Amino acid sequence: MRRKLAAGNWKMNGVSTQLAEVEALCAAHPSPRVDLLIAPPATLISSMVVSAANHALEVAGQDCHGEKNGAHTGDISGEMLKDAGASYVILGHSERREDHSESDDDVRSKARAALAADLKVVICIGESLEEREAANTLEIIAGQLAGSLPDILTGENTVIAYEPIWAIGTGKVPTLAQIGEVHDFIRSKLQTRFGEGVGRSIRLLYGGSVKPSNASEIFNVSNVDGALVGGASLKAEDFSGIIKALEDAI
Ligand code: PGA
Repeated sequence: MRRKLAAGNWKMNGVSTQLAEVEALCAAHPSPRVDLLIAPPATLISSMVVSAANHALEVAGQDCHGEKNGAHTGDISGEMLKDAGASYVILGHSERREDHSESDDDVRSKARAALAADLKVVICIGESLEEREAANTLEIIAGQLAGSLPDILTGENTVIAYEPIWAIGTGKVPTLAQIGEVHDFIRSKLQTRFGEGVGRSIRLLYGGSVKPSNASEIFNVSNVDGALVGGASLKAEDFSGIIKALEDAI
């Protein structure tokens, strides 16, 4: 059985005072029945690790470079994230694909580098509104999966987040049938490429405007193993509601 995962992505939000939210979250969920992960800005990784000491909550980076080290001003390597106490890194978020022109090839080499640094990866994929309206969603998803995933991965070290770009930060959510269609499609593609066992063991998160009020219905969709949450992960109370909904879906 795949263990469920509630992952928060703080994006470019939060200075040290924001860590009070993590402390409140840990206090509200002393022994969570699902995996918990938060990706703060890189400046808060090591202090968040301290805030979550003695708690199961894990900490993630939001990006890493595809090389181990070198002359890349402003970039962060997988080894650096690991050294700061992160155990995961989010890769290929649509905001990185857009703001930094990251291609599937870039995401794949970052994933290789992150896995080599012994990090687990959350690889994001998702279609734009134009692609959805042109009925190209599954084709786009297939292309992103083929291009962004390295050949060597396992259910232990890799999570995939399906995030329709038009649902991120907009309050718009696909229908449950649309979410289910894409998640089932991703599952079957993974089984074809990586074999039944590995394909079945990789966790699939849905992301895009997940809130406490819509989390339960989303978590009951087949092949949804949790969520990648942006805005609603910034407040302990909101993220807590989503975590409870996920625990109820076990
Ligand atoms: P949102 O962001 O929950 O604020 O829509 C999701 C994401 O970008 O991971």
